[in-house]
Amino acid sequence: MADLSVKVAGVTFQNPVIPASGAFGFGREYEQFYPLSKLGGIAVKGMTLLEKDGNPPPRIAETPSGMLNSVGLQNPGIDHFIEFELPNLLTKGTRIIANVAGSTVEDCVEIARKLENTAVDMIELNISCPNVKQGGAAFGTSCQSAADITGKVRQATTKPLMVKLSPNVTSIADIARAVEAEGADAVSLINTVLGMRIDIKTRRPILKNNVGGLSGPAVFPIAVRMVWQVANAVRIPVVGMGGIAKWQDAVEMMLAGASAVQMGAAIFADPFAPLKVIEGIEQYLDENHIAHVSDLVGQVQPWE
Ligand SMILES: Cc1cc2nc3c(=O)[nH]c(=O)nc-3n(C[C@H](O)[C@H](O)[C@H](O)COP(=O)(O)O)c2cc1C
Repeated sequence: MADLSVKVAGVTFQNPVIPASGAFGFGREYEQFYPLSKLGGIAVKGMTLLEKDGNPPPRIAETPSGMLNSVGLQNPGIDHFIEFELPNLLTKGTRIIANVAGSTVEDCVEIARKLENTAVDMIELNISCPNVKQGGAAFGTSCQSAADITGKVRQATTKPLMVKLSPNVTSIADIARAVEAEGADAVSLINTVLGMRIDIKTRRPILKNNVGGLSGPAVFPIAVRMVWQVANAVRIPVVGMGGIAKWQDAVEMMLAGASAVQMGAAIFADPFAPLKVIEGIEQYLDENHIAHVSDLVGQVQPWE
């Protein structure tokens, strides 16, 4: 049997498949379907300093081969997570990635400090949130603000720090280099791609927030391209996501340069999708006599 374990930023995952932040809550709804110990890890819902209700509905719209969401980081706040969700998650026998979000650098720093004395395995810093002190542009859309928030959170934590990049930029490789230089241990990508739908009868946007983030198979080729570009630009590990729905997608993402993968939208369609991907990868490795899943990472042979 092939070895499915992977190492990212010093953390060993028993397999490379991780439900993405926002697609799996804190795992409670999924425990009834299967033991969470089967997963490589869990990236929990993005957490802010204080509880957040998120955006008003409608905040989900279907799209061809994907979905548009403007949930707006609805979450119970970091203190609630540490007190009520984390103790349960830590009994599940899988790696826990705490996804951190904030509208100021100071908020993200404080959340990282609060996580410092917990047993979470890794912090995933979501830099796609609007920076309220800088006119609302997302931290992740300029090298300077991405570097600034990464450097400050880096100083606040000894946990492995993975920075989650926004695809809504001209050169994601430049942003990746900027966060690597500030001490990120890994990067994950992609977050959702900005999109919009309009109801032609009412002439109103379908989402109350007008715009939202596109995810699902529709974004997969964008994600593969970005993972490949980033993997070629940095030395730190890359965790790939965006549209992965089947095991073939996960293999493709790893060939592009991802050391592990996350799955978001696909879990809404099929809660068992991550397990099917794990089984499919294992079978593929065995059939092709590949001893370690990590042997796939970055093995794409680009044309000259
Ligand atoms: C409903 C929904 C909520 C999400 N919430 C978060 C979040 O809280 N933090 C975060 O970093 N990403 C969040 N994401 C982005 C996903 O983690 C992922 O980066 C993106 O959806 C692309 O992967 P996918 O195509 O497999 O869904 C969310 C995505 C969806 C669909």
